[in-house]
Amino acid sequence: MGSLGGVEVLGIDIGGSGIKGAVVDVDRGSLTTERRKILTPQPASPTAVAGVVAELVDFFSWDGAVGCTFPAVVRNGVVLSAANVDADWVGVHGGEIFAESIGRPVVLLNDADAAGIAEFRFGVARREGVVFVLTFGTGIGSAVFVEGHLMPNTEFGHIEFKGMHAEHYCAARVREAEGLTMKRWARRVDRYLTYLYELFGPDLIVIGGGVCRRFDEFSEWLSPGTEVVAAGLLNEAGIVGAALAAAGGASFS
Ligand code: BGC
Repeated sequence: MGSLGGVEVLGIDIGGSGIKGAVVDVDRGSLTTERRKILTPQPASPTAVAGVVAELVDFFSWDGAVGCTFPAVVRNGVVLSAANVDADWVGVHGGEIFAESIGRPVVLLNDADAAGIAEFRFGVARREGVVFVLTFGTGIGSAVFVEGHLMPNTEFGHIEFKGMHAEHYCAARVREAEGLTMKRWARRVDRYLTYLYELFGPDLIVIGGGVCRRFDEFSEWLSPGTEVVAAGLLNEAGIVGAALAAAGGASFS
């Protein structure tokens, strides 16, 4: 319990370059500790990543519930894809490996689903109808809500677009890798969002991931036919969503 009585859960957000953790007040959606970031071990094998999860648990001297995100399809704790992570992960029960490393259960879910859950509860995604939360980073992650219900493990970053996986066309990483101006990158994002709108007709698209901090610099080029807004929780959405998933005791996978 937190100082004001809120339930606290340790949220851990596993990414390709960093693994971030913080204790979250799940009633308020706010962090009650500093964020601790540890560089993702290379290679990011299951055992090495489990070691970092245990290190974070130790760092916070944490003996409560733990929720963890993972940048891949995760069903019932099992990792089923590896677009931007070590191929050794496919078929691995990440939930069990992490649980073994800390000695109690860990709820594991897709990173974008976690961000979406946090945005839905405490950010800007709470809306009737169909809402997409898309995270732009190394890849593109997606969380889809229909009347407030999450449809887990959608992989809109891997929809084929312009002859390639959409995330190879317009993830935030691509802007840096190809040296695109913000405008040229945003035009790519706009074409992709327009395509998604044509296919699914969402009522709202929320743009998340680190780049959403610079939303004002590129939003003018986005007009996919539906409302587009920046995520409200910025970089904390993954940590908060992981904690919420664990607090709910629900398996969002
Ligand atoms: C993965 C998704 C993940 C996204 C963002 C994609 O490459 O397939 O599962 O949500 O990257 O990390």
